[in-house]
Amino acid sequence: MYVCLCKGVTDKAIRRTVEDGARTWREVQRETGCGTQCGKCGCMGKGITREAIREE
Ligand code: FES
Repeated sequence: MYVCLCKGVTDKAIRRTVEDGARTWREVQRETGCGTQCGKCGCMGKGITREAIREE
C-alpha cells in the first residue's frame, strides 16, 4: 500500500528501512523521502515507523 503518493513510498519500503537500521521517523524520511513534500502522509508514515520499530 502506498503511504506517500508524492514520493511513491509504500508501507513495505518503510518497514524495510527500519529493518535496515533506521530508528527514528527522521531517519526513515531521510532514507525514503516519505513526508518530505506535501507532508500529508506524515501521520501514517510515523505510525508505521513506530510499529515497525516495536516489532524489531
Ligand atoms: Fe507524502 Fe505528500 S504524500 S509528502
